[in-house]
Amino acid sequence: MLYKRSSELFVEAAKYIPGGVNSPVRAFKSVGGTPIFVKKAKGAYLYDEDDKRYIDYINSWGPMLLGHAYEPVVNAVIEKTKLGTSFGTPTAIETEIAQLAVSMVPNIDKIRFVNSGTEACMSAVRLARGFTGREKIIKFRGCYHGHSDSFLIAAGSGLSTFGVPSSPGVTKGTAQDTLLANYNDIESVNELFQANKNEIACIIVEPVAGNMGCVPPVNNFLEKLREVCDANGALLIFDEVMTGFRLAKGGAQELFGVNADIVCFGKVIGGGLPVGAFAARNEIMNYLAPVGPVYQAGTLSGNPLAMAAGLTMLQEINNDAELFKRLEEKTAYLEAGMRKVLTENNKTYVINRVGSMISVFFCDNAVENYEDAAKADTPDFKAFFHGLLERGIYIAPSSYETWFITDALSYQDLDETIKAVAEVTK
Ligand SMILES: Cc1ncc(COP(=O)(O)O)c(C=O)c1O
Repeated sequence: MLYKRSSELFVEAAKYIPGGVNSPVRAFKSVGGTPIFVKKAKGAYLYDEDDKRYIDYINSWGPMLLGHAYEPVVNAVIEKTKLGTSFGTPTAIETEIAQLAVSMVPNIDKIRFVNSGTEACMSAVRLARGFTGREKIIKFRGCYHGHSDSFLIAAGSGLSTFGVPSSPGVTKGTAQDTLLANYNDIESVNELFQANKNEIACIIVEPVAGNMGCVPPVNNFLEKLREVCDANGALLIFDEVMTGFRLAKGGAQELFGVNADIVCFGKVIGGGLPVGAFAARNEIMNYLAPVGPVYQAGTLSGNPLAMAAGLTMLQEINNDAELFKRLEEKTAYLEAGMRKVLTENNKTYVINRVGSMISVFFCDNAVENYEDAAKADTPDFKAFFHGLLERGIYIAPSSYETWFITDALSYQDLDETIKAVAEVTK
């Protein structure tokens, strides 16, 4: 029986862990069924506890750009571990990775390391508020910036009204300071600035959204955000937790040629260990403690094992002049192959892609914002997901998630995937 051991483990896990998982989307709630329990992974493949192999298109939700158990990263972590796992003091490797990150990413002078993307985004917003002396922030419906209170906000009753908590436990007071706009809709942003003059500290945005499926910016959206921030004395925060070191060495800032004021990182920057970071030019970063007044700290921040994994990962990316070209070509090949078979099977679909982020939506409308993406959350997607899973292809268990392509994928893996897509959508 497929997934037998996983099913048993899930029942056992649910006795001790809420929903059997330590992060909700892993629970397969939106597609139904039992999550696979993974025993090990190597390169482009996951192996579950029933010893079934999967070609992995989630890649730990982004970090494994170069594949699982990537040897240089594994070796760096093993070597570092032998020297002690945490000291709570400065270490030389923190400066090494900081220096490299600053050299790879445009427009940043200093970087602070934390332990997750959530922490990075939460701290970036605090820094923006401290720096500008303003309290309100703008975020976009369908963008995710981690689970801190300020981001778990839904739209209120009108465009220019305050947000409301989207999770119990978030206070109305917190929600009032988060204003919601529509992705790719600069008018909705202008209206918020009009209605909240001199009150908005920052806009935080995923420069390519990956949390409503892959949704690229259109009609110079990022350039327009830059302009509206400059015109209103607000900071522009690019949440590059997904896009950083994935779309280009310098992430979305480099790809689109738009400068952000603060940039948040996670995922790839940790090479598979728990790392986040936020970075900006000196003027802004010097507002952080211990130099400046904005407080931010962490017992395990800059942890030597995490830094060893991250540094090795960034070195590998920095030293491989062909990496982003290969990723682009592989993902374009997958896109073209899937388009061919989906069209042959008379499917109504949309594929969005930027570099190695790609999504298939089963809908007939262009997907440029959250409302568009919601139309693709259909039984078609659930059948697609389970059909692929049975055939050993592991995509995200929700139509609101992007696929992350790894360089470890071979063209044979991609052909196998396209063949499975053809079978599943027949
Ligand atoms: C764009 C974006 N920002 C922030 C986060 C939060 O990162 P973490 O899960 O490491 O806290 C995520 C997580 O998926 C993300 O996709």
